[in-house]
Amino acid sequence: MPSLDDTTRGRVLFGGDYNPEQWPEETWREDVRLMRDARVNSVTVGVFSWARLEPRPGVRDFGWLDRLMDLLHEHGIGVVLATPTSAPPPWLGRLHPETLPRDADGRVEWWGGRQHFSHSSAVYRRYAAAITEDLAARYAAHPALTMWHINNEYCTADHGDEAAARFRGWLRAKYGTTDALNTAWGTAFWSQRYDDWGEILPARHTHYLKNPAQVLDFRRFTSDMLLECFTAERDIVRRHTPHLPVTTNFMPLFFGQDAWRWAEEEDVVSVDLYPDPRDPVGGARDGALVQDLTRSQARGPWMLMEQAAGAVNWRGVNHPRPRGLNRLWSWQAVARGADAVCYFQWRQSRQGAEKFHSGMVGHAGERGRTFQEVRRLGAELERIGGEVAGRQVTADVTVLHDWHAWWAAEQDGRLSSRAGHPNLLAAWHRALWEAHLTADFAHPEHDLTGRRLVVVPQLYLLTDAAIDNLRAYVEGGGTLVCGFLTGVADEDDRVRPGGVDPRLRELFGIRVLHEWWPLGEGETVGCDGFRGTLWSEEIEAADDLDERIDYRGGELDGLPAVLRRGRAWYVSTLPEPDALRALLARIAAGAGVRPVLDGLPQGVEAVRRGELLFVLNHGREPVTVAVPGPHRELLTGVAVRDEVRLERFGVAVLRP
Ligand code: GLA
Repeated sequence: MPSLDDTTRGRVLFGGDYNPEQWPEETWREDVRLMRDARVNSVTVGVFSWARLEPRPGVRDFGWLDRLMDLLHEHGIGVVLATPTSAPPPWLGRLHPETLPRDADGRVEWWGGRQHFSHSSAVYRRYAAAITEDLAARYAAHPALTMWHINNEYCTADHGDEAAARFRGWLRAKYGTTDALNTAWGTAFWSQRYDDWGEILPARHTHYLKNPAQVLDFRRFTSDMLLECFTAERDIVRRHTPHLPVTTNFMPLFFGQDAWRWAEEEDVVSVDLYPDPRDPVGGARDGALVQDLTRSQARGPWMLMEQAAGAVNWRGVNHPRPRGLNRLWSWQAVARGADAVCYFQWRQSRQGAEKFHSGMVGHAGERGRTFQEVRRLGAELERIGGEVAGRQVTADVTVLHDWHAWWAAEQDGRLSSRAGHPNLLAAWHRALWEAHLTADFAHPEHDLTGRRLVVVPQLYLLTDAAIDNLRAYVEGGGTLVCGFLTGVADEDDRVRPGGVDPRLRELFGIRVLHEWWPLGEGETVGCDGFRGTLWSEEIEAADDLDERIDYRGGELDGLPAVLRRGRAWYVSTLPEPDALRALLARIAAGAGVRPVLDGLPQGVEAVRRGELLFVLNHGREPVTVAVPGPHRELLTGVAVRDEVRLERFGVAVLRP
């Protein structure tokens, strides 16, 4: 199978989405001049070009794209060619209204924006396949083509009639009989028993709470239907160019796709990442989580498909990236395994919904600070990218994450809406990041053999196979730390006996879990040495615990907040950030896992990739960092010994 290496060929890719259909052809020539100046070596073309390529049903206009591909090739710029299927032309919706998706209230999502396609529509799929086929046939042999980009940020759900029919087919394939479905969905509750497949609906608007198992299956179905759309187009382009890799760009930690499943179907895993530049340290932390997850999905180098060189336009208040931050965050992605640093988009649009979203070339043009910083970064990546590309990141901790657990947990009718899966993932990953412990992610059924420390912030739903996997991991000598509300439900979202699966209770030394005690806004709970937030639990522990930290004060006084039996830890609250960091650092040390560097100040990040050591200063004040031994700093070419100085938002790439 082709991989990212087939496109990077030993370099780090640098470039972005390029939407030349928004500009006259004179501007294209200016674009390639500036691209060369900025050392851009790859652009993604055609993401939203459907109406331009197919102005009327079945008509093709490839002339402009022929000229553009030739122009880019003449200037040595590779093309990641996108199928344009995320934004169908207006004629498709007008001619075939059934191609438009409906939300849970039955409202149509009309054209005039983007992503207005129903994943279930046979007509949409037919038109998407046809344009993909012709695009692939036409450019398969073009020398500029280096990779395929299918659709864009697959994300739409559909609750319409055609989706309902496909949902029934999907359920039939899964359950076989309505009896099996009734059992799995618990339809004895509230008179929901189904006698005929035709009675079953997508998770549409209801008067009061929906059946959670139905919602869970509808989320699974939606991810699977979008994946079918992806694989259908992927298979078409693969037939024409079996030697070229195929990707589709994920949104960061996006709810709607089981990205573990999806990643298996891609040659290259790519992601779009837009941390908030108003908070450089918080943004770096958020970015690190997504980068670690993406690298783990890719099982190696991955592609930063989109980031913003300056402001985005979809937060309440949108700041530019302050001086130096674009460079720093780009190097952070490379440090954490990216072999491509790309942006949305090359040239900032003058019209349309994203005219205030930055581009690599902003409204200020060539002389603008944003472009000048892009230019400097491009030169650096070109100079030392070859030393980095293809290397593996060293990560000694593994965090478990699963979309099905998230989908099951994120529903109405739960005990607290404050303890959501992404918040917990962020809190635990932050603790690791601040302890300078690099983390990979894994699925709870992945082979964990040889991993030294496995951390489960929360997995509300765990299959039997996953529970057995965790137990076998601990029995095999691994250290496991689990947060609260883990192992509560089985794969049908049925609460397990005793509230937490008996095998896990046995593992952690929980004799009885009497009650869950979620905490309200501003409420905390005392524990020996720290305060717990979000959640607490009334646990009766087994007599043979090896260690416990107790609740202090309040209803739970004297009951265990943290339990350890052997190498298995259970944390029944969310310790405040410093306490969680200290706890994880202690557990990691016990498991033989050391921080990347000792004595690093907060706000400084260190990551090892191959033999290289990246040190990144996320603060605005210069710092001096101890790095034992002699190194060469590759960005400056200067030899350093035992310490390195980093300016505001500074980066050092050290080779021993
Ligand atoms: C996403 C999309 C782009 C653009 C950016 C704006 O990443 O893929 O087309 O809309 O968001 O941030």
